Amino acid sequence: MTDFATVDFYTDSSLIENPFPYFEYLRSQGPIARLPHRNVLAVTGYAEAIEILNDPKAFSSANAATGPLPDLPWEPEGDDIGEQLDEHRDELIATGLVVCKDGKEHANHRSLMMNLFTPSRLKANEEYMWSLADTLLDDSADKGHCDLIASYATPFATLVIADLLGIPEDDRITFCEKLGPPPGVVGEEVSYEDSQVLGMSFLFEYFGQYLAERRESPKGDILSQFAQAKFPDGSTPEVYDLVWIAAFLFGAGQDTTARLLGACLRVFCENPELQEQVRNDRSLIPAFIEEVVRYEGPVKCAHRLAVKTTTVGGVEIKAGTHVALLYGACNRDPREFEAPTEVILNRPNARKHLGFGRGAHTCAGAPLAKAEVTASLNRILDRMQDIRFSEAHHGPAGERRFNYEGIYTLRALKDLYIDFTPVS
Ligand code: HEM
Repeated sequence: MTDFATVDFYTDSSLIENPFPYFEYLRSQGPIARLPHRNVLAVTGYAEAIEILNDPKAFSSANAATGPLPDLPWEPEGDDIGEQLDEHRDELIATGLVVCKDGKEHANHRSLMMNLFTPSRLKANEEYMWSLADTLLDDSADKGHCDLIASYATPFATLVIADLLGIPEDDRITFCEKLGPPPGVVGEEVSYEDSQVLGMSFLFEYFGQYLAERRESPKGDILSQFAQAKFPDGSTPEVYDLVWIAAFLFGAGQDTTARLLGACLRVFCENPELQEQVRNDRSLIPAFIEEVVRYEGPVKCAHRLAVKTTTVGGVEIKAGTHVALLYGACNRDPREFEAPTEVILNRPNARKHLGFGRGAHTCAGAPLAKAEVTASLNRILDRMQDIRFSEAHHGPAGERRFNYEGIYTLRALKDLYIDFTPVS
C-alpha cells in the first residue's frame, strides 16, 4: 500500500496505473500542496492553476519539459530570481524547446512554428488523415481483435505529423521505428547533457541535415518553406532554432494524440451505451473528445518555475519553487466540474478543461489533435461494431488491469487490446 504522505510522485511506479486517488489525497491538503520531495508545490485546484498560467512573469516555463528532474543547477536566492534564471537558463534541460521559452523569445518561436499550421496545409493534412485511417484499419479491422495502440494509434499519429512537416514518404517508416521515449520517465536519472531522455537525438540529426540542405537549395516542399521562415521582425532564425521546433512538434504531437485515442476507446469499452450513442450520432464526437480530454487527458502535468515570490489561493509560493500543474487533477476539481469522475457529454463548461493547457503556452496542435481523433473515431466506428476489452489481456469486469507507460508527465496506455465485430 502506497503511503501518499511520503511517496515521490516523480519516481514511484505505484502511482502510474491509477494516479487519481493520489490526486484526491493532495486535493484534501488544499488546492496547492507541498510535495515531500524536490521543492515542489503541486496544484490540484482549477482556479489556482489558471491564476498561475495567466501570470508568466511570475511563473516561468523554463522547467516545463521535465519539472524538478533534475533540480536547478544553482541555489535560488531572494524573492526574485529573474536575473539568476537568465544567467543559468542555458544549463537547464531542453530550453531550446518552444514550450520552455518565456516572453518575447517564446512569442517569436511560437510564430515561427505557426508557419506550419496554415489553413491550406491543415486541409491537405486532414485529407491525408482520412485515407491513412482506412489504410491502417485495413490491416486489423477484419480480424475482430487488435492492440489499438500498436496497430493503429501510434503509427497514425506519427505519420500524420510526418505528413504535416512534409517528410518524404520513404523516410516515414524510419521515423516510426527510431523515435525514443517522451520526457518524464519515472525514476529515470536525468543529466543535463542527456538529450536522449527527450527521445530527440534522432530527430535533431534528421531535421538538422534536412533543413540545412533546404536552406541552401530549396526544393519547393514544406520543409523548404519552413527553412526560409522568418521571425516576426523579419530577421532570419538559425537552422538550429528551426530544428528544435520541428523536433518538438514530433515529440509534442505524436504520443499525446495516440494516447488520447486510446483513452477514447477505453471509455467506449467501459460505456457500451455511450459507444452506441456516439456511433448513431457522429455529431457528438467533438463533445465526446473534449470530455475525454477532461476526464482522462494524456497530459497529466506541466511545470512552471516561480520566478517571483507570489501568493496564490492563500499559499505563498517562494521564488525558486517548482510548481507542478496537475492538469489531470485540476480537470476533476469538483469546485469547477460537477460530478467530475463521470463522463458526461455536453457539459455546459466542457471546453474549460486544462487538458491542452492555458495562456501563452496553450497547445498549438489542439485543432490538429482533435481533427486526428475525429477522423479516427469515425472510421473505427464505421469498421468495428460492439467494441469491448479483450478479457484475455485486461481481465474480466471488476478486475480490469491496464498497462500505462511509466511516465510522470503523460497518462499513456501502453496497449489497449480490443475485441469487436468487423463491419463488412
Ligand atoms: C491530444 C493531444 C494533445 C494534448 C493533450 C496536448 C496537450 C498540450 C498541453 C497541456 C500543452 C501545454 C504545456 C504547458 O502548459 O506547459 C501543450 C503545448 C504544446 N503542444 Fe500540445 N497536445 C496535444 C497534441 C499536440 C499536437 C498534435 C501538436 C502539434 C503537432 C502539439 C503541439 C504543441 C506545442 C507546440 C505546444 C507548446 C506551445 C507553446 O509553448 O507555445 N500538441 N500541448
